[in-house]
Amino acid sequence: MKVLVADDDIIVRKLLNKLLSSWGYQVVLAADGDEAWKVLNDSDPPQIAVLDWVMSGKTGIELCAECQKAGLPVYRILLTAKEKDEEMMYALDQGAHDFKSKPIKPEILKSRLAVGKRLVEAIQDTMRAERLAAVGSLVAGVAHHFNNLNLPVLMYASSILKKTDLDTKTRKKVEKIEKAAIEAGDLTEKLMSIASNKHQKKELADLNHLTNDAIEINSITFDKDEISVRTDLKSIPKVLIDINDIRHVVVNLLGNACHALIASPEKKIIIKTGMENNQLYLQVTDTGCGIAANKLQKIFSPFYSEKGEFAEPESPFYKVKGVGIGLYASKNIATDHGGDITVKSQVGHGSTFTLWLPVAQEFDYLVT
Ligand SMILES: Nc1ncnc2c1ncn2[C@@H]1O[C@H](COP(=O)(O)OP(=O)(O)O)[C@@H](O)[C@H]1O
Ligand SMILES: [Mg+2]
Repeated sequence: MKVLVADDDIIVRKLLNKLLSSWGYQVVLAADGDEAWKVLNDSDPPQIAVLDWVMSGKTGIELCAECQKAGLPVYRILLTAKEKDEEMMYALDQGAHDFKSKPIKPEILKSRLAVGKRLVEAIQDTMRAERLAAVGSLVAGVAHHFNNLNLPVLMYASSILKKTDLDTKTRKKVEKIEKAAIEAGDLTEKLMSIASNKHQKKELADLNHLTNDAIEINSITFDKDEISVRTDLKSIPKVLIDINDIRHVVVNLLGNACHALIASPEKKIIIKTGMENNQLYLQVTDTGCGIAANKLQKIFSPFYSEKGEFAEPESPFYKVKGVGIGLYASKNIATDHGGDITVKSQVGHGSTFTLWLPVAQEFDYLVT
């Protein structure tokens, strides 16, 4: 996190620079208030500012007040020789978020900076969630309109293909139109299912059966990438699910497992089903790259992907495509079924994703 240190005393600047850098902050220094104001209005401004009260140019108080007026989202700590309560109250009223009299013990400054960092991160998370929700509804809206526009294309292409007197060249062209329209329809349906909980068609199904279907769908990738797949499917009761949706979840988990194995010397996927605490589970374990602990929550966010354009060139994910909706949509599907998806992982060793589903109740058997 970037922190501005504005103080006209070079010794204080140097000391704070050394301390803050050793605590992992990226420090930007300003020798007076005017220079600090420029830094605060930069295109990539700091998120925290440690400001001296009395400086040449703008004072720390003036900086706090102007940041407040301009709505600059920077956490402002006033570090000053002043120490009276009235002065502290005045500083806070003017727009400072924290106030500390000099001299300050390094460990106290460290804790106060940590408070600022936590607040800044919490605000960033909220803003990100709001932005994602807005993007989500925009995507759903666009997808919906696009689907309406696409329907006549598909309909007319299909009806033209029913004609028997088409010459071969025209038939080939129209077949291409129909194929593209079908693909566009599939894609928009996927996008719409992210935001809107489309009506599910639930029926009693065998999770082991469905697992074998999903393995079959991914079998070309398994063979091509020389991945060995082992199954351990226990005898389990039936489950009330939308078969297409849950199959989609399993195919997704297997697809992610394949990607995770790209650079692994040991390319194994183990798929288990069974029952635990009165819940059915389907578990996909890979011996792939694994996921860092601080990312285990993030991977379920919409549009979070580390693949393709989002990957570093040296990452094994660089050469595969990712949109970042697979796990988000899968978790939604699981919770819509009264279940969940959990994950355990160890970087460099692999990951285990578990899909949990409730066992069908007696009255569920009346549905089919
Ligand atoms: N089995 C796995 N091993 C390692 N990382 C994974 C695995 N599954 C998912 N991930 C991480 O979670 C991110 C989000 O996954 P997902 O929602 O399916 O989107 P996408 O696959 O399009 O990137 C991936 O980009 C990847 O970083
Ligand atoms: Mg995926």
